[in-house]
Amino acid sequence: MATILLGISGSIAAYKAADIASALNKDGHEVHCVMTKSATEFIPPFTLQTLSRNPVLVSLQDEKNSWKPGHIDLADRADLLVVVPASANTIANFANGLAPDPLCSIYLATRAKTLICPAMNGKMWDHVATQRNVAQLKLDGADFFGPDSNGMLACGYEGKGRLMPVDEILDYIRKSLA
Ligand SMILES: Cc1cc2nc3c(=O)[nH]c(=O)nc-3n(C[C@H](O)[C@H](O)[C@H](O)COP(=O)(O)O)c2cc1C
Repeated sequence: MATILLGISGSIAAYKAADIASALNKDGHEVHCVMTKSATEFIPPFTLQTLSRNPVLVSLQDEKNSWKPGHIDLADRADLLVVVPASANTIANFANGLAPDPLCSIYLATRAKTLICPAMNGKMWDHVATQRNVAQLKLDGADFFGPDSNGMLACGYEGKGRLMPVDEILDYIRKSLA
């Protein structure tokens, strides 16, 4: 069974990460959730802690229980880093090598495969800056699944930008691990 780091960033779709954490845990994987501060505005860490059966990492300043920084330990042990949902901001941080929080630091520190599942307003996704960041991350070896090309967005727009359906993300993760 795999050690999976589930990154969650600040999108209205963040609550869907709860189903991903629960399903991967039921599959028998060791699941560790890493949330951005913004993500905690959308879903409480406590929910993800309960469903993943592991403490949730939010702040680099929380890591005072061990000589080895928790985010580096997780980065070393990971078989897969999957970011669901990935915000435009977190994608930009990854693409530019910025490390303001545990999630972005883990992206830099791990050598595990990285799967990014974006969710955002369609105009944010289509913006040349976001597309440049996505292209850079693909060149750097990251894998993308989504966003969905159709559907009603929480911001009121219809079209591209939604998180891919949870069952399809789970299928994609299971195939990536096989
Ligand atoms: C109600 C609401 C919903 C949002 N949904 C998204 C979203 O789906 N995708 C996105 O990229 N940003 C979204 N944002 C903006 C991000 O939360 C914001 O850019 C934040 O700085 C992201 O930080 P993070 O990448 O560290 O999580 C939303 C903001 C609000 C207030």
